[in-house]
Amino acid sequence: MAHTYYKDNREFMKALDRAGDLVTVEQEVDWDLELGAIVRLVCERKGPSPYFKKIKDYPEFEALGAPLATYRKLALSLGLDADASIPEIGKVYVERTDRGEPVPPKVVPSDGAPVKEVVVTGDDVNLFDLPGPMVHDGDGGRYLCTWHMIVAKDPDSDEINWGMYRQMVFDEKTMVGPVLPFSDMGKWFHNKAVPRNEPMPFATVIGMDPLAGIAACAPSPIPEDQFCGQLMGEAVEVVKCETNDLMVPAHAEIVIEGEILPNVELEEAPFGEYTGYRTSPREPRTVYRVRAITRRKRPVLTVSNMGVPTDEGQLLRSFSLGLEMEKLLRSQGIPVTGVYMWPESTHHLVVVGVPHAYSGIASQVAQLVFGSKLGPWFHMVVVVDEKTDIYNKDEVIHALCTKCNPATDIHIYRNHLGTPLNPFASPEERKWGRGAKVMFDCLFPRDWKPSDKPILVSFNNVYPEDVREKVLSNWKSYGFTD
Ligand SMILES: Cc1cc2nc3c(=O)[nH]c(=O)nc-3n(C[C@H](O)[C@H](O)[C@H](O)COP(=O)(O)O)c2cc1C
Repeated sequence: MAHTYYKDNREFMKALDRAGDLVTVEQEVDWDLELGAIVRLVCERKGPSPYFKKIKDYPEFEALGAPLATYRKLALSLGLDADASIPEIGKVYVERTDRGEPVPPKVVPSDGAPVKEVVVTGDDVNLFDLPGPMVHDGDGGRYLCTWHMIVAKDPDSDEINWGMYRQMVFDEKTMVGPVLPFSDMGKWFHNKAVPRNEPMPFATVIGMDPLAGIAACAPSPIPEDQFCGQLMGEAVEVVKCETNDLMVPAHAEIVIEGEILPNVELEEAPFGEYTGYRTSPREPRTVYRVRAITRRKRPVLTVSNMGVPTDEGQLLRSFSLGLEMEKLLRSQGIPVTGVYMWPESTHHLVVVGVPHAYSGIASQVAQLVFGSKLGPWFHMVVVVDEKTDIYNKDEVIHALCTKCNPATDIHIYRNHLGTPLNPFASPEERKWGRGAKVMFDCLFPRDWKPSDKPILVSFNNVYPEDVREKVLSNWKSYGFTD
């Protein structure tokens, strides 16, 4: 059954507009810092997405900033009311992706595919014909691809991956960016294409529909084109590339095709990153040689501005990492009551709710999540009991500061897998993608007698049900408004 969703980003923009989550900027903006600065402030203010109608030097292009950087926009993308709560949004994601079969994409002819309205190949290709913005002052170049996805194929099978890997324009026909070795595309490229010295075809898709964006940055357990189909409830329509056999969403705005070159590297970065810092130095990174650009006649470039929270990468990675972690823990029989990764932590902190069913359950949770495929991306786990509201910062901080004994309940795991972007890691740890992890066990010890456990003094815990009901039902008549 098809769910409510938007087949392309334009339909989604109309939904944002109807909900009051889009601002149309008629005034010309400069691709050199001004556009990026607006998007940055929007993220920091958790504001509506700016729809830029006029970009300096690029009369044929438009842009959309911060397309999915708030829970309101995420709720809309899934066809929910913009005011849906975080657990309601999570429930829809899990219902759609945890049940039923993967939904393979449907190939449509090039003729009529919006992303083929303009086709440029060979010598005519020039990346500077696209309005790649200078996103932050201090960036190492113009980052054309900040809210996009790269389509790639396993060299040894038909498996497809959609993933987000930033790309900076290097010259007219070359892009460059980091591809971390533990990502799906990274494993194929670094472990297969590079040792065999074989170029790997790629297609960068910009301005895909919002669910494709969610799928591309989710740690999806199945190929993302099929995961996207699950989110939509029907097949995503794809069309063949001009210069290779990869399939790309037919309703996207821009596609850049080519090959990832093995055993050649070019300098990339610095860049303002999702941790809220400029961490990685300028150094040699992966090279994308461009063979073709296809696009709509007046495409809308999507632009994310990474920095201090909250941008869409932080929000969507937190959202999907947390929920995939919950699925993983449940699949291992852990009786979790919920998992929530805080976007404000730049997806570094995850809160797990679990009853203290047996001794050591908090350590088991930590080791499973740190040891999973999701593990490199975060380093703090707070385990709370089933009565703590994991979405409520007040309750989580209270549990952390009252139930976690600094002498016995903070567990540090050294020399673990990390990312090269961890601001707190030493330069050597960053270079090798290593980092420490920590788990805060906020469960009172199992071996304490019930009388040893202090009683939580809260409205819900220390009043009889009849008194609570009376107070709640009379609340307005006492004179309170909320
Ligand atoms: C906006 C954004 C930018 C990202 N940039 C990079 C990047 O430059 N290099 C990288 O290896 N991972 C990057 N990531 C993380 C990958 O997207 C992520 O590992 C991948 O999409 C999904 O993981 P998988 O391929 O391991 O399933 C980025 C994520 C987001 C949301």
